[in-house]
Amino acid sequence: MIQSLRGMNDMFSPDAERYEYFIETATTIAKRYGFTFFEAPILEETALFKRSVGESSDIVGKEMYQFIDKGENDVCLRPEGTAGVVRAFIQKKMDKQGGIHRFFYHGPMFRYERPQKGRLRQFHQFGIESFGVASVVEDATLIMMLVDILDALGIGYKLEINSLGDQNCMPDYRNKLVSFLDAHESEICEDCKRRKATNPIRVLDCKNSSCQALYAEAPKLMQNLCEGCDTDFQQLKSLLEDSKINYEVNTHLVRGLDYYSKTAFEFVSDEIGAQSAIAGGGRYDRLVEFLDGKATPAVGFAMGIERLLELIKMPETKREGYYIGTMDDEGLPLIMKAAQVKRKSDKVTVEYKSKNFKNHLKGADKVNARFCAIIGENERNDGTIWIKDLELKEEKTIDLNTF
Ligand code: HAM
Repeated sequence: MIQSLRGMNDMFSPDAERYEYFIETATTIAKRYGFTFFEAPILEETALFKRSVGESSDIVGKEMYQFIDKGENDVCLRPEGTAGVVRAFIQKKMDKQGGIHRFFYHGPMFRYERPQKGRLRQFHQFGIESFGVASVVEDATLIMMLVDILDALGIGYKLEINSLGDQNCMPDYRNKLVSFLDAHESEICEDCKRRKATNPIRVLDCKNSSCQALYAEAPKLMQNLCEGCDTDFQQLKSLLEDSKINYEVNTHLVRGLDYYSKTAFEFVSDEIGAQSAIAGGGRYDRLVEFLDGKATPAVGFAMGIERLLELIKMPETKREGYYIGTMDDEGLPLIMKAAQVKRKSDKVTVEYKSKNFKNHLKGADKVNARFCAIIGENERNDGTIWIKDLELKEEKTIDLNTF
């Protein structure tokens, strides 16, 4: 028997309903904030992710679904959504056009990771990207939006923020960190030795406990920010405080993708086990330029939908629509016609099998219909239909033509 691939799941009810409800809620809120829907291909040129997410990242270094297609093109399944949006933004010359552009998207992402609870090889993100606003007010607005989405779904969270500096302060900080790592070369793990050479700041989120203990003493980027980055970070904190959004500053929050500068943030949940990050994002002011576009400030985030599903508080399901049945086979053409009319405006469940009155009422209950409509011999002879409102417990017989 053929099985689905490891780390790639099918989605049935009730997860499928939770998924739909999530998309509906997040979409409504994204539109309220002025974002418009965007859809990019799932397959892109491998070079796009190498140049954006970064060759030193685990995502590009170890986890890409990369292959040569029949036309000899080096392609891969997208491991994340930002790179594709930026590629499209530049391809459509929106960078040259200037102004503000805000997009939201959702769909599958692919990372060849070791599957475990909350960590899949095919997972889904809901993401948003905003281009053209350099002010940190936009960063705060995106965080507010994320909070609105989580609140609407009844999901608790902890927000961690950090600043990763920019091209003015980051190089200097990187040198200081490398000097610190050189001085402690014998104490750091093999992974950190590799990171020191490729992307030193990634050592800060090393999971190794002895490295963690050592890095508590490492120079802090927060204390080495240039004036511009520091002012932005202070403003971000005060905007969050004004909006009554609780946060923690985590100076070791560096994110797993290389394109960030200045603001970086993550939302975590303590209710879903080890893979606790439910959303992450930040500013990436240099990425449009790196991908050969005109320099454009940008900021965004993505939420991991699978990790949120079990946390979503679904609204109470209400009785909805019509259940239509017949008590004998002669009534079948009549209920089919009635259903065709009713479906123009309402959800309709048709029971094809003839049943007695009591069993039809049970059937209507089972599908949670608001109305149970039945045609029996009398109704058929009179050209009528019997209807019961299962919520108000009222019943009546009406002319079938007015149904
Ligand atoms: P990311 O932090 O790599 O950021 O992913 C965002 C979210 O996707 C994570 O917080 C997590 O909930 C979910 N996620 C990641 N990997 C997996 C996995 N293997 N299985 C299940 N869920 C997963 C990005 O992807 C950036 N593009 C976010 C962004 C947008 N930054 C700026 N704009």
